[in-house]
Amino acid sequence: AEVHFHEFVIQETPVKRLCRVHNSITVNGQFPGPTLEVRNGDSLVITAINKARYNITLHWHGIRQMRNPWADGPEYITQCPIQPGGSYTYKFTIEDQEGTLWWHAHSRWLRATVYGALIIRPPLSSPHYPFPVIPKREITLLLGEWWDRNPMDVLNLAQFTGAAPNISDAFTINGQPGDLYRCSSQETLRFLVGSGEIVLLRVINSALNQELFFGVANHKLTVVAADASYTKPFSTNVIMLGPGQTTDVLLTADQPPAHYYMAAHAYNSANAAFDNTTTTAILKYKDASCVTLQGKSQAQAIPAQLPGFNDTATAAAFTAQMKSPSKVKVPLEIDENLFFTVGLGLFNCPTPNTQRCQGPNGTRFTASINNVSFVFPKQNSIMQAYYQGTPAGVFTTDFPPTPPVTFDYTGNVSRGLWQPTRGTKAYKLKFNSKVQIILQDTSIVTTENHPMHLHGYEFYVVGTGVGNFNPNTDTASFNLIDPPRRNTIGTPPGGWVAIRFVANNPGAWLMHCHIDSHIFWGLAMVFLVENGEGHLQSVQSPPLDLPQC
Ligand code: C2O
Repeated sequence: AEVHFHEFVIQETPVKRLCRVHNSITVNGQFPGPTLEVRNGDSLVITAINKARYNITLHWHGIRQMRNPWADGPEYITQCPIQPGGSYTYKFTIEDQEGTLWWHAHSRWLRATVYGALIIRPPLSSPHYPFPVIPKREITLLLGEWWDRNPMDVLNLAQFTGAAPNISDAFTINGQPGDLYRCSSQETLRFLVGSGEIVLLRVINSALNQELFFGVANHKLTVVAADASYTKPFSTNVIMLGPGQTTDVLLTADQPPAHYYMAAHAYNSANAAFDNTTTTAILKYKDASCVTLQGKSQAQAIPAQLPGFNDTATAAAFTAQMKSPSKVKVPLEIDENLFFTVGLGLFNCPTPNTQRCQGPNGTRFTASINNVSFVFPKQNSIMQAYYQGTPAGVFTTDFPPTPPVTFDYTGNVSRGLWQPTRGTKAYKLKFNSKVQIILQDTSIVTTENHPMHLHGYEFYVVGTGVGNFNPNTDTASFNLIDPPRRNTIGTPPGGWVAIRFVANNPGAWLMHCHIDSHIFWGLAMVFLVENGEGHLQSVQSPPLDLPQC
């Protein structure tokens, strides 16, 4: 195994998109940031140097960080942020993961421009992909969102007004909106393929606030991995990814030589404003130019057919096909049976304040799990406070395992249930306990797909369904044989999803909706997994350069 050293200089860089230049926070001046390429078993040593004007942290999304929460990155959860002028070296090892992950800033909305791919190939000792056909080429596609304004200003404004933040002005593929947007056709990304070639596409949803459909005109996609775990291969015209999720697909260039759009647009189940534009890149067959150029400077590309924005059936059918390649070890006996409602809410304004209460009917938006709207600590990180034995004043451990009241979660919910309480609450798990969580969407304000991400773990997705979870009937239909292993899973709109994992990684681990407008409204909680016996089951000591608050 190898050790890879990198220096990530976080700095302000002028970036021009949609005819406008604005200073964006980047890593090493690159947008998107550098791609990390490693093999299973390798280690990474990444020194982050903060030359920007914001506090920042970096997160390696999907890396388990066994006994090493210090390298995980979410601000005020496992570390205090790196202040302007400061630096911190993230050190971690890849253990039993192959496929595509990514990294991103985990402070406020800085991940809008601070993100990149993390590619994990099979180890040299057994260097082959377990795919039905072996790809000759690889293309990594980071799907993102672009705002004409500084995303941090968009967030600050929403925080001030209590309204929903402005939607983005473009979706992007590897930072480029593509030729369906103004001023973008020159920069549209073109990927050359030879006829008959097999390509591995690594697709990452790094958008801030939007689930996306992705497809390639006239081409079938064979799904082979998701969230750096292999899947049972299946063929599809379109894939759906929530923010945070990755999907690896094989594509065979088996169509007549031409230019084909690779495109993504929103999958939006919520009854709310969203960016309804389409981002594109072009898959260009090497022998296609003379056929399609026709005297124009650019060939007309063949459009991709994507599902309608509200096509929940296609999204659900896609998700249902995900399975592990063979039988896996799902925990069967459960020690911790948790039921979490996830959804939005509204805070009433005590005194009408037209400036600060611009949510629906003079309210402020909020979001919660089990009616607790998460508040990030400010004076210390949860992990540092816990490790030093000083949690008091930073967090409490009374996060409720079930919602305070039972109600018809997906029905016509009475207004009395719309207001959560605020708190920085963690839920304690004993080392090695077997955990099941039912994530239940609510129809408070609106039903919505909430892509839930758990730090420090991969979990099995054992079941999903519409309406209210019914333990008597739904449990019987769980897939305990070959469920997919993920780090992020959508709680379907007006439905539920069930996950299982063994709490074998001690530390403070954030679980949250990966839609960033929901995190800042409080759709998050923390698991505090206790040490087991002996040092091999305990959190390692923190690195000396761990930032302090
Ligand atoms: Cu992709 Cu909490 O992170």
